[in-house]
Amino acid sequence: MSMTVGVIGGGQLARMMIPAAVNLGIEISVLAEGDDSSARLGATAVGDYRDADTVRTFAKSVGVVTFDHEHVPPHVLAELLSDGAKVRPGPHALTFAQDKIAMRTRLAELGVPIPGWTTATTPAEVDAFVTEYGGKAVAKTARGGYDGKGVRMISSSADVVDWLEALADGEQLLLEERVSFTRELAQLIARRPSGQTALWPVVETVQKDGVCAEVIAPAPGSAGAVSDMAAKIAVSIAEGLDVTGVLAVELFETDDERILVNELAMRPHNSGHWTIDGSTTSQFEQHLRAVLDLPLGATDMTAKFAVMVNVLGGPTEGMTSRLPAAMGNHPHAKIHAYGKEFRAGRKVGHVTVAGDDLDAVVAEARGAAENFSN
Ligand SMILES: Nc1ncnc2c1ncn2[C@@H]1O[C@H](COP(=O)(O)OP(=O)(O)OP(=O)(O)O)[C@@H](O)[C@H]1O
Ligand SMILES: [Mg+2]
Repeated sequence: MSMTVGVIGGGQLARMMIPAAVNLGIEISVLAEGDDSSARLGATAVGDYRDADTVRTFAKSVGVVTFDHEHVPPHVLAELLSDGAKVRPGPHALTFAQDKIAMRTRLAELGVPIPGWTTATTPAEVDAFVTEYGGKAVAKTARGGYDGKGVRMISSSADVVDWLEALADGEQLLLEERVSFTRELAQLIARRPSGQTALWPVVETVQKDGVCAEVIAPAPGSAGAVSDMAAKIAVSIAEGLDVTGVLAVELFETDDERILVNELAMRPHNSGHWTIDGSTTSQFEQHLRAVLDLPLGATDMTAKFAVMVNVLGGPTEGMTSRLPAAMGNHPHAKIHAYGKEFRAGRKVGHVTVAGDDLDAVVAEARGAAENFSN
């Protein structure tokens, strides 16, 4: 098999696969959305990922196809398979990261712990579910959500009339029990087509306004029961769904020490960015190894803790102008800028600090990220 990896989508995840590929001497091509995409430095093609001919032509130029995002339409993926392309993760797995209703249905079949849920198309169905769960619930669009878009906290059908009206034939809303979690966790796992798996320690993720803001690795106090449960869940999903590449399992931890699955991403994930600077093998290198069916790297941490803080929005003039101050004040911070233009709340970069004193690591990471806020 050709060692060229083709990545569909030119966001920061594709961008961060590039140095990993360069170090290993693996060719990488990116089908990017535009000349200004984050991964433009590795982009060999610019085109629309929804257009079957564009994607098929791109796939023919590489050995294995993988993804920066989960938005490639199913009919395009099916055409790639019929062309004989190696698509990893395969469409049969990816569908459960593309559609939250399909995901809930499949996880229920696998017996994985998940919040109470149903589907709805009418106000009466929404109100019945909300009443059943004590007057509050969460509504989600089945497809296309990211960074909290497509997720609403609701207390009646009045909160989703627009979504209900916009449903196309056959579409449904996902309704979930509003979990009163004590914290959110994420478990990352990589799996090769031949079956080998590797897991990083379970991490704590902190979201602000529905967007990931900080990640602490490992999740404090997770050694033992929590990490065992998270690992078991991730392995059963990776194997049960036949996922290849990196799989991120977003989790809720409850005060009665249960772990419930929120959602899945089948690609490197924001909760794993710390691995670049805090693990023997980064999630980006591991994803390349996994989709090429190469032996997976060790996932030990290089320090006791690693903390990642996202740069959201960033300075209007871009991150570069703030580098001198950030670097001068925070020599331990590893700064990652995605080359993206300012937009309020947008993920434009992140900072990671690794070390043995958690309080000091948190302070250094937050301090460094603060330099890039407006
Ligand atoms: N059932 C739930 N109960 C309580 N809070 C929830 C529930 N579902 C989602 N949330 C909150 O909303 C956030 C975003 O939800 P979810 O992860 O489903 O959305 P997304 O936009 O697809 O995610 P991402 O930001 O990972 O792209 C979660 O991280 C969590 O904080
Ligand atoms: Mg999420």
